[in-house]
Amino acid sequence: MPKETLFFGADHGGVILKDRLVAWVKAQHPSLPVTDLGTHGPDSVDYPDIALNLAMRVVAENACGVLVCGTGNGMAMTANKVAGIRAALAYNRFTGEMAKAHNHANVLCMGGRTTAYEDAVAALQAWLETKAEGGRHNRRVAKILELDRKPL
Ligand code: RB5
Repeated sequence: MPKETLFFGADHGGVILKDRLVAWVKAQHPSLPVTDLGTHGPDSVDYPDIALNLAMRVVAENACGVLVCGTGNGMAMTANKVAGIRAALAYNRFTGEMAKAHNHANVLCMGGRTTAYEDAVAALQAWLETKAEGGRHNRRVAKILELDRKPL
């Protein structure tokens, strides 16, 4: 379970699921600091703006975050442009667990138009509770981090 702030962000395609996930975290993990970076309503917004803002906060504060758009893909693509971000798409318990255990994901991306609330909660819970595995996974994640230092 992270101790640092858990940031949330969404566009109009993900705002309903994001709001429900924020409520779930506050109810289930009241000691976990949560910051909701919006959006806060149904009006159309551009997901790269939301993802970039959250990704910069995650890196600056050594924190982690959850991004929700229609599919999760646009959020993941944008967040992964920021050095230090490992954003993973998750849509059930197993993908949430593996995102942390194997990929050391510090941002979890989900689709508000593709993933049922129960599956999204299962993914989020698994990601929050799973520990990052070391050994060969450290070596592989180090290869991703190297690309942050020396972009191709
Ligand atoms: C917005 O219509 C939609 O494109 C966005 O939420 C997301 O699915 C992009 O990846």
